[in-house]
Amino acid sequence: MIIAVDGPAASGKGTLAKRLAAQYGLAYLDTGRTYRGVALAMRRAGASFEDVTAAVETARRIDFDALEDPEMTSTEAGEGASRIAVMPDLRAALVERQRAFAERAAREGRGAVLDGRDVGTVILPDATVKLFVTADVAERARRRALELYGIAHGPEFDALLEMLRRRDARDSGRAASPLKQAPDAYLLDTTDMDAEAAFSAAVRVVERALVA
Ligand code: DC
Repeated sequence: MIIAVDGPAASGKGTLAKRLAAQYGLAYLDTGRTYRGVALAMRRAGASFEDVTAAVETARRIDFDALEDPEMTSTEAGEGASRIAVMPDLRAALVERQRAFAERAAREGRGAVLDGRDVGTVILPDATVKLFVTADVAERARRRALELYGIAHGPEFDALLEMLRRRDARDSGRAASPLKQAPDAYLLDTTDMDAEAAFSAAVRVVERALVA
């Protein structure tokens, strides 16, 4: 079984994907981290975010098993990832390795869950189950502000809202594999759901696919 989970920044897709992986014993890859990992490595090497050659070389050599650096979850890493993610050659290099991850899991007799922006549309168009997880942008900003600062209003909320709007526009508006719902993906709008309700809804979708 291969599960594709896509959606905008801070939609809760990562939490959901990880729980699905645990529930069904599947290998898990956060493809956002592969972009974040390349952006951080490039910044550390002093490379410009427009340098295609440096981006492709970094994408070919970074260790997918070592994407645990705490810096990886920072807003700066996310911004850098979103900026470099517009380069088609970089995307091709990462997509090849993301696919290889899912193929290796399948060879080992295990399925996989991948989450990101283009899993169901580009990386694994034949996935068994595709979920498109989204929520209203203000609700996403509220959740992220609570998680980061313990407060869901004020200047921190405003800055997050602005950042998410900019990120959504860049991720959805780029020419190369933009964020969009695959025609055969199940839309999970979690605006009015907590994490538990979102997980139950996702499990129902997966169970339906398993009996079909
Ligand atoms: O899911 P995330 O916030 O960790 O992703 C960070 C950025 O990486 C996102 O804004 C765009 C890019 N990305 C992408 O272009 N394609 C993916 N499959 C995953 C992430």
